[in-house]
Amino acid sequence: MTNGTIGTAALGDGGPEVGVQGLGCMGMSFAYGPVDADASRATLERALELGVTLYDTADAYGAGDNERFLSPFFTAHRDEVVIATKFALSIPPDEPTRRIIRNDAPYIREAVEASLKRLGVDVIDLYYMHRRDVNVPIEETVGVMAELVREGKVKQLGLSEVTAGELRAAHAVHPIAAVQSEWSLFSRDIEANVVPAARELGVTLVPYSPLGRGFLTGSFVDAAQDLTADDFRRRQPRFTGDNAVANASLLAPVRAVADAHGATPGQIALAWVQQRARVHGLPVVPIPGTRKPARVEENTAATRITLTEGELALLEPIAGQVAGNRYPDMSFTSAGRE
Ligand SMILES: NC(=O)c1ccc[n+]([C@@H]2O[C@H](COP(=O)([O-])OP(=O)(O)OC[C@H]3O[C@@H](n4cnc5c(N)ncnc54)[C@H](OP(=O)(O)O)[C@@H]3O)[C@@H](O)[C@H]2O)c1
Repeated sequence: MTNGTIGTAALGDGGPEVGVQGLGCMGMSFAYGPVDADASRATLERALELGVTLYDTADAYGAGDNERFLSPFFTAHRDEVVIATKFALSIPPDEPTRRIIRNDAPYIREAVEASLKRLGVDVIDLYYMHRRDVNVPIEETVGVMAELVREGKVKQLGLSEVTAGELRAAHAVHPIAAVQSEWSLFSRDIEANVVPAARELGVTLVPYSPLGRGFLTGSFVDAAQDLTADDFRRRQPRFTGDNAVANASLLAPVRAVADAHGATPGQIALAWVQQRARVHGLPVVPIPGTRKPARVEENTAATRITLTEGELALLEPIAGQVAGNRYPDMSFTSAGRE
């Protein structure tokens, strides 16, 4: 680590070293209210200066808009960035707000070509199955993904929101470099089965929403009142009404720990994920999402915070007290199927 840049972690067993914190790019085009292209571009450049190399997108983010938006940045820095994108959430042309989960071979083949074209690159570094279609055997899906590796369209494979059993079955077909699942002070369900399986198989964990979609920073309380009408978080049970008010009170110990470090609550949330992964003994590359250069500075600085045992103990009960699920339909998640 030099000049304020972050450390590195391996992406999968024997895989490339990437910055120990990645950047979630979804909000630059989609889901979290008004977008600001200029600020987002500045955020991407600042992140790279700070040692962030893993950039996370998906074909579904803004129906391809996010991949298209990132393309100039990726092509300008092709040798410095690790591009992660995803397939599986198909959008019917006549119903742009609907998502149908597709894990079948014809769909994957169509999706990868479309992503390569939108991204403007000839290979995707890390290609994830975004969501699981339980009607398609995982072996079949990963079999097709493995063909993409052999054909040179994709370098490494990842899975998002899979169960430990699905991960093991997939890994037996082709090495899985990364599992991307929600993991934060508020969402710890994967610690029961998925994290131990990933550790055993040498799979890197890529925690998404490590800031609890921003809630852990204290930047909003009730999504229905504080966020714009189109904001995805208004549909998440834990961020509205009585749940949101109860959950906001759970941030008191996070603020206390932050004060002790002269840090922000968001930084404590990020430091906690890094440290929790060390307890489990596996590499981790959280991908906090932001569209603001100052926040990428704040978030990457969190990689240099070490929490004491006493502080970890103070934060330990929080997840068990959270009111409301993280999604309206939990069958979309590993916890909903385990
Ligand atoms: N695999 C999946 O199913 C899945 C699901 C969700 C997300 N993801 C990926 O994971 C990435 C991260 O997750 P996420 O964006 O949902 O949640 P997150 O990283 O937990 O939080 C993002 C939110 O926090 C705000 N924020 C970031 N840094 C902040 C700071 N220092 N202070 C105050 N607020 C801050 C952001 O606002 P600003 O942008 O305005 O800074 C944004 O609203 C996404 O971008 C996406 O790539 C994957």
